[in-house]
Amino acid sequence: MTDAETMLDRIAAAASLGDLDALRVEALGKSGSITALLKSLGGMDAETRTREAPKIHALREQVTGAIADRKTALETAELERKLATERLDLSLPAPEAPLGTVHPVSQVMDELAEIFADLGFAVAEGPEIETQWYNFTALNMPENHPARAMQDTFYLEPRDGETEPRVLRTHTSPVQIRAGEALGAPLYVIAPGRVYRSDSDATHTPMFHQVEGLVIDKGITLGHLKWTLETFVKAFFERDDIAMRFRPSYFPFTEPSAELDVGYRHEKGRRVVGGQDGWMEILGSGMVHPRVIANIGLDPEEWQGFAFGCGIDRLAMLKYGMDDLRAFFDGDIRWLKHYGFRALDVPTLSGGVGA
Ligand code: DAH
Repeated sequence: MTDAETMLDRIAAAASLGDLDALRVEALGKSGSITALLKSLGGMDAETRTREAPKIHALREQVTGAIADRKTALETAELERKLATERLDLSLPAPEAPLGTVHPVSQVMDELAEIFADLGFAVAEGPEIETQWYNFTALNMPENHPARAMQDTFYLEPRDGETEPRVLRTHTSPVQIRAGEALGAPLYVIAPGRVYRSDSDATHTPMFHQVEGLVIDKGITLGHLKWTLETFVKAFFERDDIAMRFRPSYFPFTEPSAELDVGYRHEKGRRVVGGQDGWMEILGSGMVHPRVIANIGLDPEEWQGFAFGCGIDRLAMLKYGMDDLRAFFDGDIRWLKHYGFRALDVPTLSGGVGA
């Protein structure tokens, strides 16, 4: 067997791309055997060179071709091995997919919509970036009115041509005016949504949620307000034995105004609604101020109304037992898993709104 045949055999038998490359270097590299043959041509006389040169070149071609063929074969074999071993078995159970939950705030908003829909209320919405007219002035809080200082307002940079900077709405009450303008009277709406105040500690976050309620109709009295809130509180907390009291208060947009307190009891160091251990405030309310009715564009001699406003996050905390408001907005997956609701647990009055 000649050297050349041996080399071709070894190439054909190379077990890996690494081995094959070593053979390439051995034959065709700088000090390779075929390279040496090519170099030897220079030292031959013309006749010998004419005879030997085609053989040597042919040999180089042969070895180069053999290396290329073996390389393709090895690569194909490698690909086939990968295709065979890296097969995806679709019959295996899928890895557990992260399953989202409904945030308690969304859940409570759904519960509110369900409860109030049953009482004939529609859901209204308004913008979170609001003009001072809607957020304050139309609600009987004119400029320099001390009530404007009651809420730590975020003011926006005024846009070109804007005389008054807009604000991030500090409450959902501006939706009273917007819904009144859009829908006229009689009007029965709730308006849940985000509100903003420059405030931050364990019980305050700069963004939080409120729900506003507004009724405008003929002959509306404080009795209607009282009955509606009582019905709402009992349906929301899903118990009949909730003690309630109205405490006189002040809001510029209602006259008279009252805050609603509910009785609580202590349970495992936590305040739970229902019981006689003490009172806690859960919402503000009152009879819509005639000036607000007029700002909507209605005649206050003809139309009366009541309104209320309530923190949704606090309702959720009271009903579902969380004690740090900040965790609501951390997006911690463990918290969401623990306190979140399954997407299909839609609240219904018959099935229990907090089902
Ligand atoms: N807007 C008030 C607040 O953010 C809450 C409120 C009180 C709303 C009384 C009302 C109301 O509609 O009648 O503190």
